[in-house]
Amino acid sequence: MTTPAYSPGLEGVIAGETAICTVEGGLSYRGYFVGDLAEHCSFDEVAYLLLYGELPTAARLTAFQARVAAARRLPPPLRDFLAALPKWTTPLDALRTVVSGLAHFDQDASDNSHDANVRKAERLLAQIPVAVADHYSLSRGTTPTLARQDLSHSANFLYMLRRTDPSPEEVKALDVSLILYAEHEFNASTFAARVIASTLSDLHSAVTGAIGALKGPLHGGANEKVVDILTAAGGTPEAAEGWVRGALARKERIMGFGHRVYKAGDVRADILKSYARKAAEAAGSVALEDTADAIERVMAAEKNMHPNLDWPAGRLYHAMKLEIPLYTPIFAMSRIAGWSAHVIEQLDNNRLIRPRALYKGPDRRPVKPIGERG
Ligand code: CMC
Repeated sequence: MTTPAYSPGLEGVIAGETAICTVEGGLSYRGYFVGDLAEHCSFDEVAYLLLYGELPTAARLTAFQARVAAARRLPPPLRDFLAALPKWTTPLDALRTVVSGLAHFDQDASDNSHDANVRKAERLLAQIPVAVADHYSLSRGTTPTLARQDLSHSANFLYMLRRTDPSPEEVKALDVSLILYAEHEFNASTFAARVIASTLSDLHSAVTGAIGALKGPLHGGANEKVVDILTAAGGTPEAAEGWVRGALARKERIMGFGHRVYKAGDVRADILKSYARKAAEAAGSVALEDTADAIERVMAAEKNMHPNLDWPAGRLYHAMKLEIPLYTPIFAMSRIAGWSAHVIEQLDNNRLIRPRALYKGPDRRPVKPIGERG
C-alpha cells in the first residue's frame, strides 16, 4: 500500500466539493462577493441565498420570513430545561444541548430528504436565537420575552434580549456581522457537520456537533476573548503597543488575529471594522477602537499577521452592550445558515467522509499472557 499524502491539520487539503462558497479571490457566497451582500442585502436574504441557492425575490423573501418568524418558539419542555440548568452553564453549552433536544420535537428529525432538511433548517434558523435569548432571560431569573413575528432575524434577537425596539443602525451593524459570519467553506465546525451528515445521520446531530466545534477559542470562541485582550492591553494605544510586544515575546496567541487560509488579511474584518468604530462612537467611547488599531499595527509589523472577523465582531458586540458570553452563540445563530446548506449539499450527493491516519505507533508485536507482562 502506498503512503498517503499527509498535511498536519489538513492544511491545504481539498476535502470535498461545494457550490456554496469560495475563499478564492475574496470570500463569496454562491457567486456573490460578501462585501456586496453586506452592503445591499439583509441577513434574512443571505440566509435564503445559502439555503436555496439564489437571492430571493421580494415575494419569496416575505414568505420565507413569515415561515421563519412563525417557528420562533421553543417547545415548553426545552424552556423548562433551560430554566433548570445550573447558573454556571455557558450560553453556548446551553444552545448545544437545546439544539440536540429540538430533534425530539421535530417531526422531520430523521427525514433526510432535501425538502425535509430545508424545512428543518428554517426551523433551526428561527429557534437558535430564541434559545439564546430565552436562556439569557431565564439565567437572570426573568420571564423570556415572546419573539416578534414582524421583525427580522437581527431585530427580533435584539428585541428579545432588551425588550425594546433596536435602532436601525444597530440592526444594520448586527446584520452585517451575521452576513459575514454566515458561511465559510470547510471551516472546522462546518467540516464537522459534513462528517456527521456523511454517515447518513441527521441535521440536528450535525448542527449539535458543529456547535461543539465552534466553541473552541481557535474557532468561534475567539470572539469572546477580544474584549479581554483589549482590557488586558491597558486601555491606551501606548500601553497596548508595549503589552502586545510582551505577549508576543512570551509566545502568547492574540485571539482575533491570524487565519489558516487568509495569510494576507481577512476581507470580513476590513468590512466590519467601520461598523465597530461607528458603534463605539455611538456608545460614547472609542478607547477600545484606538487600542485595537495599535495592536493591529504591532501585529502587522512584528508578525505580518492580520485581524480575522472575530476581532471587529467582539468590539462591535461590546459597543452594542451585549454580554460577552453571547458572542459565540451569535456566531452560531448566523452560521446555522451555512451549516445547514452544507449538510443539505452533503446529503444531496453523499459519500462517507473517512480519511486515513499516518500510523506512528509501535510495530506489530505479540500479545503476552497477563502474568508475563512487565
Ligand atoms: N497570535 C500570535 N501568534 C500567532 C497567532 C496569533 N493569533 N496565530 C498564529 N500565530 C503563530 C503561531 O504561534 C505560530 O508561530 P511559530 O511558527 O513561531 O510557532 C505561527 O503563527 C503559525 O501558527 P499556526 O497555529 O500553525 O497557524 P494556523 O494556520 O494553524 O492558525 C489559527 C490559524 C486561527 C488557529 C491561529 O491563527 C490562531 O490561533 N489565531 C487566534 C485564534 C483566532 O482568532 N481564531 C479565529 C479564527 S477565524 C474566525 C473563526 O473561525 O472564528
